[in-house]
Amino acid sequence: MKIENITFGYDKKKLVLDGVSCAFKKGRVTSIIGPNGCGKSTLLGLCSRLYKPFTGAVLLDGRNVAEYGGKEFAKKAASVYQLNEISGDITVRALVSYGRTPHKKMFELLNDDDEKIVGYAIEKTGLKDFETRRAAELSGGERQRVFLAMALAQEPQILFLDEPTSFLDIYYQLEIMEIVRAVNREKGVTVVMVLHDINQAVKYGDDVLVMKDGRIKAAGEAEKTVTPALIKDVFGVDAELVSRKNGETFFAASL
Ligand SMILES: Nc1ncnc2c1ncn2[C@@H]1O[C@H](COP(=O)(O)OP(=O)(O)OP(=O)(O)O)[C@@H](O)[C@H]1O
Ligand SMILES: [Mg+2]
Repeated sequence: MKIENITFGYDKKKLVLDGVSCAFKKGRVTSIIGPNGCGKSTLLGLCSRLYKPFTGAVLLDGRNVAEYGGKEFAKKAASVYQLNEISGDITVRALVSYGRTPHKKMFELLNDDDEKIVGYAIEKTGLKDFETRRAAELSGGERQRVFLAMALAQEPQILFLDEPTSFLDIYYQLEIMEIVRAVNREKGVTVVMVLHDINQAVKYGDDVLVMKDGRIKAAGEAEKTVTPALIKDVFGVDAELVSRKNGETFFAASL
């Protein structure tokens, strides 16, 4: 996916994104980091067609996303936003099955292949024991996995995740990250995710996109790009590189 010189604001007078250009490489995981309010969710919203840019364009496979039909785009791109509420009696399996909607005609029932894909998504996210439960009664972390499973059932080529681990305890955080990585490695799904934890962003991102004040500050391979100087510049905190081993980087930060 390519983002070409995008400007966008929620009202005409104030631009939230001001001339943003970047690219998310196919088959890789990109972490987006940056301070609160810098435009990360807005950028994801533009990529997933939630918003339309004032100027510039988002290209997927060389084609402006605005030109895709709704279903056609939903077959290619899926999004998981911050914790979503679920109401009603819908079961976990039924909710995950909604992910197949873009692949079906109206009122067309799921076939064996669809059920297999739904089963894979449920298995992958560790929801096997929850299949028949009411989704509304699950814990926050379990619900987050349901939405991830629904996105996986969509079989997207690119997956957008906005703070997929916020509100989760450290176990669920790592679990979600491991699932995302496994799906990327096994299915080649391109992943773009906003994370607040810099160490996780570097650990799970092949690449990072660093934003500040509606602009791109840095972009490139995660381990090379994120340095104490960059962290200081972008977040205004002192960061010390404590260790780097087994593909894990650990920065300790202080004011
Ligand atoms: N729906 C909206 N209407 C008006 N302004 C908005 C809306 N959503 C976001 N903004 C503004 O746009 C700017 C960027 O917001 P955005 O949500 O993209 O930031 P973010 O980088 O995702 O921040 P956070 O880390 O807090 O999630 C902020 O100044 C915010 O106040
Ligand atoms: Mg946000």
